[in-house]
Amino acid sequence: MESLTALRERRGFECRLAPDRALRTIDDAEGFLHDRGLLTRTTDCALPSLYEACHEDPYQPGSPGFGTWPATKWPWFGELAGRGYLATGVHRGKNLYANFCFNCHGKLGLGNGETGKDGKALPGKPLNKADFKYVTLKDDPAKLKQTEDYIRLRVTRGKANVPPQFSMPAWGQSDGGPFNPEQVSQLISFIMHGTDDDWADILTIRSHLEGADTTPDPGPPPAPLSGADVAQQYCTTCHSFDPNKPSTVPSAPNLGRYGIEGPLNDQLKALKASGDPDWLFKWVSNAPKIKPGIIMPVWINTEPGGQLDEASIRLVVQYLQGLGK
Ligand code: HEC
Ligand code: HEC
Repeated sequence: MESLTALRERRGFECRLAPDRALRTIDDAEGFLHDRGLLTRTTDCALPSLYEACHEDPYQPGSPGFGTWPATKWPWFGELAGRGYLATGVHRGKNLYANFCFNCHGKLGLGNGETGKDGKALPGKPLNKADFKYVTLKDDPAKLKQTEDYIRLRVTRGKANVPPQFSMPAWGQSDGGPFNPEQVSQLISFIMHGTDDDWADILTIRSHLEGADTTPDPGPPPAPLSGADVAQQYCTTCHSFDPNKPSTVPSAPNLGRYGIEGPLNDQLKALKASGDPDWLFKWVSNAPKIKPGIIMPVWINTEPGGQLDEASIRLVVQYLQGLGK
């Protein structure tokens, strides 16, 4: 059996970790890739890394991200992709897409630009678009890196939306999803390097999947939240809705009897007294606009950072107005 030191030495040699084994030309790199079978761009677990093997000064010393890519040899990764070496990644990504993304992002990856079984726009966003493609980004390393990172983040973590809007599920194992980082990279390879022919394959793959539909079907949208659900999910970080339990944040009033006790502060009393029927809707939507400087956040999604749509806010308002009655 090989000792750990011997294994390390072998990995160092084979992955070209020693400077005297630096890749000199793109053909060197191609040979290296051919030899190793699989390459990652930057150092990642035990996989051989193209950029590590270049042994070149960073693009922008001292800065993170693409700044750490090799100064002149960074385009090699894309060039090798052009020579077909990313084919395995794209191919695997394509299969993952056909199995797991098809129903929300569609046959052609146009997302809400395609319709599903019920004739309605699909819930996903477009993925097959110029902004995401390596060919569009290849002359701008910063933008290329930024786009790759953005797609990785979205696929790994997903994005929650308020029901009945669909959410983008989290797919990364780090976030409770099914895919390891390599599978996430394969999906990214497909999204960034997939050609029209690759996208056309999706339907073919679907038609060969046992029991799989060839028309995208995201299923029914998630059930809308009730006013009480909204309050529980979004407001209990600060407020209590139980008259017998204090609020988590002392400056946030207990709202358990708000239907008979509200409004509480002077600004809101004045707004109600002015005859505005929407006084409470306006407060929950954008409290800092009525009382500047308070820690209660803006909730309405027409303002930056707002997480709730109008319908959800109307529901929570109705809920508040019934509390204590
Ligand atoms: C249940 C439906 C659903 C499934 C399945 C799904 N997505 Fe999504 N995806 C969404 C929705 C909805 C959004 C938009 C989220 C938002 O920004 O509000 C989205 C957004 C994205 C985005 C960000 C796009 C952008 O422009 O911001 C990426 C990337 C993405 N999905 C990739 C994938 C991949 C890859 C898969 C398969 C592994 C997948 N999605 C499966 C619903 C889905
Ligand atoms: C980060 C903490 C925080 C969160 C989260 C929060 N609030 Fe508040 N809220 C406050 C504080 C602090 C006040 C007291 C404001 C003041 O100084 O008058 C307040 C006041 C209120 C009042 C009383 C207004 C009055 O004076 O009559 C209502 C009603 C209210 N919040 C509803 C909500 C609802 C509904 C949500 C969830 C959608 C929510 N809040 C989430 C901090 C928060």
